[in-house]
Parts: sequence; C-alpha cells; structure tokens
Amino acid sequence: MSGYNFALIVMSDSRSKNPERDKVKPVVDEILRGINSNLILYDVIPDEKDLIKERLVEYVKSDADVILTSGGTGLHPRDVTPDATKEILDYEVPFIPQAILYFSLTKTKRAMLSRMVAGVKDGKLIINLPGSPKAVDECLGYIVDILPHAIDKLKGDSSPCGE
Ligand code: MTE
Repeated sequence: MSGYNFALIVMSDSRSKNPERDKVKPVVDEILRGINSNLILYDVIPDEKDLIKERLVEYVKSDADVILTSGGTGLHPRDVTPDATKEILDYEVPFIPQAILYFSLTKTKRAMLSRMVAGVKDGKLIINLPGSPKAVDECLGYIVDILPHAIDKLKGDSSPCGE
C-alpha cells in the first residue's frame, strides 16, 4: 500500500548505456519503504540538458508527488542536472539542498562539490541528489521524513504546522 508516489531519474552517460548496472534505485526503494512510499516511474538517461528537461516535465505531469534525480550535480563539464532543473522550475526551495549539505559535510567535505537544487514545478517537488549510491543513501536518508509534510503542503493542506 503506497503512501506517496515518487519518480527517479538517474543521470549518467555511462549507466544509460547499461541501465541494469544502476545501483541507485535499490537504495531509493529501500529508503522510500520507510515512509510507506514507492517509485512509480524510473529512468536512466545520459547527461543531456534537453533530455533531462524533457523527462522532468514528463514526470511532473504524471502521478508522481516528488521527482528525485541522481547524478550530474558536480563540476564535470557534463554535469548539467542542476542547470536543467533550474530552467524548468517555477521556484526553488533552497533550504532542502542547504539542509542536505549541512548533514553531508559531517560525512565528507566533498559534499561542497555538489551544485544540487530543489524546487517546485506545477505543484510537484523536484530534488537533485548526487550520483553515488552512498551519497544518495546519506542525502535522501536525511530528508525523507520531512517529504510527506512537504507534499501535503504542496497539495494545499492548510492545517497548522505543529510537529
Ligand atoms: N554528499 C554526500 N552526502 N556523500 C557523498 O559521498 N559525494 C560528493 C558530493 N556530495 C557525496 C556528497 C561528491 S564526491 C561529488 S563530486 C558531488 O556530490 C557531485 O556528485 P555527482 O556529480 O555524482 O552529482
């Protein structure tokens, strides 16, 4: 029984040629189980900005409440996920990546090398995550328990925000 619907897009030139080698999806599946939620859409695509924008917009139109991306957030010339994401967002939610960074720096100083963004498009939350399964475990694991509240608010829940 599903609580919330999630989508995952993995960005990787190499893994898009061998999607069966992707090790991020099992990590995401496991974390989402913790909030009684699951992936309804999943794809592994190359680091092509137009393709990323196209897939993001397609998934925003689906029944997914949250669209997660993994990979392409760093400094390599082919890392364009945050740039593609920003181009389609209605508005950013900057404290999600900031909260992730705050936690991630306790794990590795290399966390400062991610340019991940989060934001909203047509009422759907989009969150960039880094590409390594370890990083996804740390970053998504840290924020997952606040996502139901975020989704409820995006859907118009106007009840008071007591914890
Ligand atoms: N954040 C966490 N929590 N754990 C990690 O291992 N890896 C970093 C960073 N963020 C990492 C992390 C590294 S090494 C890089 S290069 C950047 O994410 C960008 O990763 P990406 O290009 O795969 O998106």
